[in-house]
Amino acid sequence: MPTALIIGASRGIGHEFVRQLRAAGWKVIATARSDDALQALRDEGAEALKLDVLKPESLAGLGWQLDDEKLDLAVYVSGFYGSGGQATAMPTAEDFDKVMRTNVLGAMQAIPLIAPLVEARQGKFVFISSGMGSIGETESSHGWVYRASKAALNMAVKSASFDYPKATLAAMNPGWVKTDMGGPDAPTSVEDSVTGMLKVIAGLGPEHSGSFQSYDGRSIAW
Ligand SMILES: NC(=O)c1ccc[n+]([C@@H]2O[C@H](COP(=O)([O-])OP(=O)(O)OC[C@H]3O[C@@H](n4cnc5c(N)ncnc54)[C@H](OP(=O)(O)O)[C@@H]3O)[C@@H](O)[C@H]2O)c1
Repeated sequence: MPTALIIGASRGIGHEFVRQLRAAGWKVIATARSDDALQALRDEGAEALKLDVLKPESLAGLGWQLDDEKLDLAVYVSGFYGSGGQATAMPTAEDFDKVMRTNVLGAMQAIPLIAPLVEARQGKFVFISSGMGSIGETESSHGWVYRASKAALNMAVKSASFDYPKATLAAMNPGWVKTDMGGPDAPTSVEDSVTGMLKVIAGLGPEHSGSFQSYDGRSIAW
């Protein structure tokens, strides 16, 4: 039975990864912050572990709990949008720190802990980025702190891919998805986004390590 780790699985895209992977017969280890979300993950048949990516000691604890687990797939989903805003107003340090620490630092702290477990299975380590992190496709400054965080995440993924040659590391655009973050006007359902991402992930080989992928299979500019 293949094994997946989903980081940030309490709701939205992360929760749907758990649901679809369990339905496909995977062993799933999933993380969440609240006790209610952990119980809901156990009800889905996942092994649930408590993790707050804003707390380095919590990430270190995850590494310890995973011990010598071997992972065919790991997905870093945890993300925070922040207060939005654009380049006509100063971002607050508080908003900047929370967005950057959740979206970038958490992923960078997870990599040395998780990537060796993925290498043990020559597996895939996917990081949920965003089209808003694509410098090449940017057309406004709307949500610029979040945009900067996802562009930084992309660089973290690309650069880390050189240190873990037995794993395939990729950044992934999930589309604009109907979740708490994406809102009700988003054109893509969470089911379709995750189905698309799992199809793209299945097609990833070592030659795709350090790449930026999109859930619909189109190529996306860095
Ligand atoms: N929805 C979209 O249109 C869209 C588009 C592009 C990219 N994305 C990206 O896709 C990912 C998932 O987004 P979503 O739409 O599913 O958003 P969501 O419904 O707001 O879910 C966000 C997830 O991140 C978790 N999270 C936030 N802060 C965390 C922390 N400190 N430690 C651990 N987990 C934390 C949340 O856990 P709690 O329940 O504990 O808060 C929740 O599981 C994010 O990285 C987001 O940036 C989404």
